[in-house]
Amino acid sequence: MTVISLIFVGLIMLYKKELGISSIDAKIALKELHIIIGYVFAVNLLVRIVWGFIGNQYARWSYIFPGKGFIKEVSHYKMSIKEGNPQQFIGHNPLGRLAISFILFLLIILAMSGIIRAGTDVYYPPLGSYFAEYVADSGVNPDTIIPYNPTGTNETKVKELKAFKGPIGKIHLYSAYTLMFIIFVHIFFVVLTEVREGGGLITAMFTGKKVLNRKPLDFEQ
Ligand code: HEM
Repeated sequence: MTVISLIFVGLIMLYKKELGISSIDAKIALKELHIIIGYVFAVNLLVRIVWGFIGNQYARWSYIFPGKGFIKEVSHYKMSIKEGNPQQFIGHNPLGRLAISFILFLLIILAMSGIIRAGTDVYYPPLGSYFAEYVADSGVNPDTIIPYNPTGTNETKVKELKAFKGPIGKIHLYSAYTLMFIIFVHIFFVVLTEVREGGGLITAMFTGKKVLNRKPLDFEQ
């Protein structure tokens, strides 16, 4: 939900001109809203990353990340689909695991670049006080610096900060585009897997239980 909200507010930020949002206050308010949801998202992400080390077998990164023999797993899985007898899994299928790994990578990049931009743009924690201190003119209290207001700032330092935050914003934006594309492709394939193979993948998202009609390949007892 936080990701959907971030995409939603992010898109409004991107198309603010077209939406008729032009005042600097509205621009800052949108950013602040996006950042506050961003914090909830970042904490969630952190919890999920930790869960990947202490959680159940199927939630662990050691299970999810493609490791040795991954190519073989994929080709066996593909073959089984072709033969009309698809392998079933309690956890994720090999291609699903690849998708999750890539999405996780994107989410980490988004969280890191977002937190940096939160600091450079509106001096929000955890890095904001550091950036405010950097742009403050000598003798000016960094706490008095207001976003998008040159009062009390050093022009050269502000320029340097702009040069630094530009590429970070680009990384953030292109990661967001890639994420939107991947989410779209991912949903398409999840639905396709459900329709072609059964296995209750979508049911499992709500109930935590898959309905399998064959012995899953990753079941150990
Ligand atoms: C799934 C996670 C996220 C997505 C999909 C996302 C998406 C976006 C999008 C589409 C934009 C508009 C880019 C632009 O105007 O150039 C944006 C900007 C921004 N985001 Fe995020 N974001 C995410 C996470 C975060 C987080 C965790 C933070 C910080 C806590 C954050 C802070 C920012 C800031 C400060 C901007 C303004 C940067 C700029 O104007 O270039 N974002 N985000």
